[in-house]
Amino acid sequence: MINLTINGKPVSLDVDPEMPILWVVREELQMTGTKFGCGIAACGACTVHLDGEPIRACSTPIEAAEGAEITTIEGLSDPDGALSKVQQAWIDAQVPQCGYCQSGQLMSAAALLRDNPNPSDDDIDAAMSGNICRCGTYTRIRAAIKAAARA
Ligand code: FES
Ligand code: FES
Repeated sequence: MINLTINGKPVSLDVDPEMPILWVVREELQMTGTKFGCGIAACGACTVHLDGEPIRACSTPIEAAEGAEITTIEGLSDPDGALSKVQQAWIDAQVPQCGYCQSGQLMSAAALLRDNPNPSDDDIDAAMSGNICRCGTYTRIRAAIKAAARA
């Protein structure tokens, strides 16, 4: 049994300890906001937070989260459902195109803004470099991160 907290709720999971966090979240917990892209930790579509740090859920076994806290895109808003500043900035800037990469982008951006409330262009590029967007929304992502920083 693996015991952890996900989006503020304690859970106990009877799963293979080596199952990637991505499949636990999507298949066992039916939280499908986190996406499967490459499966080899190269695209960032599956980004979630493990104890606040962005990680690649496709390549991190659930046993790594024993006793820890996972936050997914479903947990980025406030418990009352109010959007976080970074989510609202994403909407205001109309960042997504197809949308597939965007939950991972948001999780990386949220971690950046928590650690660096006023990031420079270079800070943004460094923090977001592991998140690939095949639609090329990078300019709007940068604008939204800056808007969230100002909010
Ligand atoms: S699906 Fe995990 S990094 Fe691409
Ligand atoms: S919005 Fe389509 S891959 Fe990023």
